[in-house]
Amino acid sequence: MCGIIGYIGEREKKEFLINGLKELEYRGYDSAGIATFKNGHISSYRALGKLENLIHKTDLFSSDGFGLGIGHTRWATHGKPTEINAHPHCGEFSHIIHNGIIENHREIKKNLLSKGVKFLSQTDSEVIVHQFEKFISEGMDAKKAFKNTIEIVQGAYAILLITKDEPDTIFFAKSRVPLMLGTNRKKEKFMSSSDAPLMGHATEVVYLEDGEYGWITKDEISIFADEQLVTPKFITLKKNKIHAQKNGFRFFMEKEIYEQSNVISETFMGRVSNDSIELEELNNIDFNNIDSIKICACGTSYHAGLVATYLFERLSKIKCQVEIASEFRYKEPLLDKKTLFLSISQSGETADTLEALKIAKIAGLTSLAICNVDNSSIVRLSDVTLLTRAGIERGVASTKAFATQVATLWLLALYIGKNRKTISKEKMRTEIEALLRIPSVLVVKNSTHEKIKRLSKRYLHGHGFFFIGRDIFFPLALEGALKLKEISYLHAEGYPAGEMKHGPIALVDSELFTIALMPQTILYDKIKNNVEELSARDATILAISPKKLNLADDFIKTSNQSHPMSEFFEMMIIMQILALEIAVRLGNDIDMPRNLAKSVTVE
Ligand code: G6P
Repeated sequence: MCGIIGYIGEREKKEFLINGLKELEYRGYDSAGIATFKNGHISSYRALGKLENLIHKTDLFSSDGFGLGIGHTRWATHGKPTEINAHPHCGEFSHIIHNGIIENHREIKKNLLSKGVKFLSQTDSEVIVHQFEKFISEGMDAKKAFKNTIEIVQGAYAILLITKDEPDTIFFAKSRVPLMLGTNRKKEKFMSSSDAPLMGHATEVVYLEDGEYGWITKDEISIFADEQLVTPKFITLKKNKIHAQKNGFRFFMEKEIYEQSNVISETFMGRVSNDSIELEELNNIDFNNIDSIKICACGTSYHAGLVATYLFERLSKIKCQVEIASEFRYKEPLLDKKTLFLSISQSGETADTLEALKIAKIAGLTSLAICNVDNSSIVRLSDVTLLTRAGIERGVASTKAFATQVATLWLLALYIGKNRKTISKEKMRTEIEALLRIPSVLVVKNSTHEKIKRLSKRYLHGHGFFFIGRDIFFPLALEGALKLKEISYLHAEGYPAGEMKHGPIALVDSELFTIALMPQTILYDKIKNNVEELSARDATILAISPKKLNLADDFIKTSNQSHPMSEFFEMMIIMQILALEIAVRLGNDIDMPRNLAKSVTVE
């Protein structure tokens, strides 16, 4: 996810901005840039890749003395990671940096193009600076032009803008993406996406609310909401940097669990309207010419793929198989050109998935990647890519990457269904309604987390865990078991609930913990029977369900959802937190569990 930094004062601006961007590196990025403004002149530098490249490029540039500057690290979502797409984006006399997604950028761009405005990049962000300058050319002053621009853009944004029209000012706006302002005794002014870059510099900060915008000069900070001036609520900036990077959470994994509601909104952004799904990346694929989908992936991504097999067959009415990439590689697979090859990978670098993709390419299949990292090896090799937009994931045990993969696959299933006309208008509407509810389903309730924390103390021993579920809750059970294994080092298996009687039931006694996923929207009675069979043999049962189950030893109540995917995402979070709290009690390293690597680039 992109990072933003801004400064007004006497310091060497290049140094301050780049050092600030270093503090934001943990958010992940693929390019970076700065622009400084001094004595009526804006100097802008951008570089692809690591900050080292930007440092190298700005080697001979210095910007001391009073002035202002803005800096940005970019995580590509619209347009490839290239220098042209890096921020700041410029018009004729203004520069902007933007974090988020401008959902209506196409309409704005079309309108500006028709008026002769020239665009340089493929980003959504560039429309902001051109729209702003357009308003100025129509006679508005900079403040009015900025306010009007903010009124036009829809979506998520943290924006900083500098312009020769107001040389002492940085304009800012915030909606659904974090942005904070800071100051200190020397009256320096700071802006940032998070606390870390401001520590040791700003003493007091204000965290902007959605819908707030305004301008900052060396003497004043003016914040507006609904055209009214807002009195900023400054608070003292805390001092622990690592704590700040974790946003106050104990672990990156915990932060990433809590982030899921926001990042999934980014996954959907610009892709979902009231009655349709638009995936412009796929415009060149003729889905009527494809009669099956083959998915290859590893680990958590494989589980997302397994969920997708249900979604593709049910919603898109297309045959779908998923295979573990390391198995696929050596089985001498028979491949058909009418099969779409779908690789799923958080990192885009997993060796087995990459090799599987190469096999599919050689066989002449069209390849589509679902990936979180643009320009990764898998993305570069695939014909087309859908980015999941999760931002960097630091916890080795994947959480938000999985959630966004499943969400992207759901979008894809609906999109294919639309193209193949396998989904009625009515069904599409109910699916989209359900989809748009997911961000709120993913908000972690304090009471749920507390309950799981308390319950976790009963699950620190035993001779094993079985996570059971049916339908899409079977892959979710696999993922729940994997999370627990990864960070608690306890033995856990995911199993289809109906299959327990064909073997694993022999293991059942009171020391065998069963985590039963019991949604009310899919096969509730069937799974209840399966749970009864286990209870009759004295298994210890933790039921996760909206319906109370008397025979369960422990019970986590979920909310009364009417769509299976809502139940899916709610139960996913519960299992992530359960794994986390058990591992915390066992004293394990949550973010870097033993023997595991985030990206496995060897066979
Ligand atoms: C490693 C990670 C897992 C991940 C798997 C696949 O094993 O520890 O969390 O699911 O690789 O990674 P990918 O980047 O391809 O999704």
